[in-house]
Amino acid sequence: MTARVISVVGARPNYMKVAPLHRAFARYADRVEHLIVHTGQHYDAEMSDVFFADLEMPEPAVFLGVGSGTHAQQTARIMLAFEPVCLELRPHLVIVVGDVNSTIACALTAVKLGIPVAHVEAGLRSFDRTMPEEINRIATDAIADYFFVTEPSGVENLRREGAPPERIFLVGNTMIDSLLFALPKARAHPIRERLGVAPRQYVVVTLHRPSNVDDPVRLRLLLEILAELAQWRTVLFPAHPRTRQAVERFGLSPLLAPLHVLPPLSYVEFLALVLEADFVLTDSGGIQEETTYLGIPCVTLRTSTERPITCQLGTNQLVPPEPEALRAALRALRQGERKQGTVPPLWDGHAAERIARIVLEHCLRLPVE
Ligand code: UD1
Repeated sequence: MTARVISVVGARPNYMKVAPLHRAFARYADRVEHLIVHTGQHYDAEMSDVFFADLEMPEPAVFLGVGSGTHAQQTARIMLAFEPVCLELRPHLVIVVGDVNSTIACALTAVKLGIPVAHVEAGLRSFDRTMPEEINRIATDAIADYFFVTEPSGVENLRREGAPPERIFLVGNTMIDSLLFALPKARAHPIRERLGVAPRQYVVVTLHRPSNVDDPVRLRLLLEILAELAQWRTVLFPAHPRTRQAVERFGLSPLLAPLHVLPPLSYVEFLALVLEADFVLTDSGGIQEETTYLGIPCVTLRTSTERPITCQLGTNQLVPPEPEALRAALRALRQGERKQGTVPPLWDGHAAERIARIVLEHCLRLPVE
């Protein structure tokens, strides 16, 4: 018997999590047909297509093309488009990853059709319900059937919330699987030379959280502090479409002048720059993990993180996006203070292989050997 498994991708951080799963399931191609469904939550080529190329992922089997909108519009459109796909393809399992609107939309659609759902990167909690991603995480884990977890805090959170312990699997991090896959290409990539910056003489900055970029006062302050940083380090700033739009809307474009603003980068380009950065300044989720793996200091401009292991073991530090705190953190870095870290357990490049085995054995009841 061949079982059919659908993995859902929607937004940029999802691709890195699903690509290694697709490779891992390929080993069992005689038993499992693995299909990728792309919701189209992110649709610009630079937010989507280049990631498929970098990660050597096949074209999605189905593209739903839902695009942007309010949260309700986007979530609802994904559900409306995903339901007929489930009805037609009748998967035995739907895998959702991460915490984006596509994650909750497809999980909810599948469980209501009686299709089991596995959540990769389950159990992470920032305990900040003003973050849309936190609502997506809580809601997805409340209805999922199987939980694949990247770090011990996720196991604790799921147990506390009543998830059945025998369905919680600490497997490591598929994001790190992708990082290891792409590392040789990143090391060989000429982007740094092309940009004309020397190793460790620049900082990579990413900002896109609504809490940082949708508030004109906060965004202005952050851009002003980045201008100060630019006095002693080149600031490479690949700008997310959301951030670019906010900067224009609030009339803040002149504040970008001291920064080296770049379009959204491909996965390999971004990794190539992070590898030789002095440090990284971000409000992203996944970048906290990538820098921890690579041992590059990371300043995360947030008051909470759903990935506490990156602070406990890794190179990450949380800095509230307030002027004094941020200036103090940057001063310490300027004086040479660098957080040392270690790589969390099971972040070894084999998480997706563990997930595929568990899916066969526990979710599909198929032989693994
Ligand atoms: C989404 C995720 C966030 C993730 C981020 C990574 C949710 C709730 N948020 O946020 O967790 O960290 O992706 O990038 O799912 N836009 C484009 N082109 C695109 C995609 C978006 O121009 O390809 C613009 C649109 O104007 C859109 C805005 O960016 O309104 C924001 O996109 P959206 O998908 O709503 O959320 P992100 O901020 O990207």
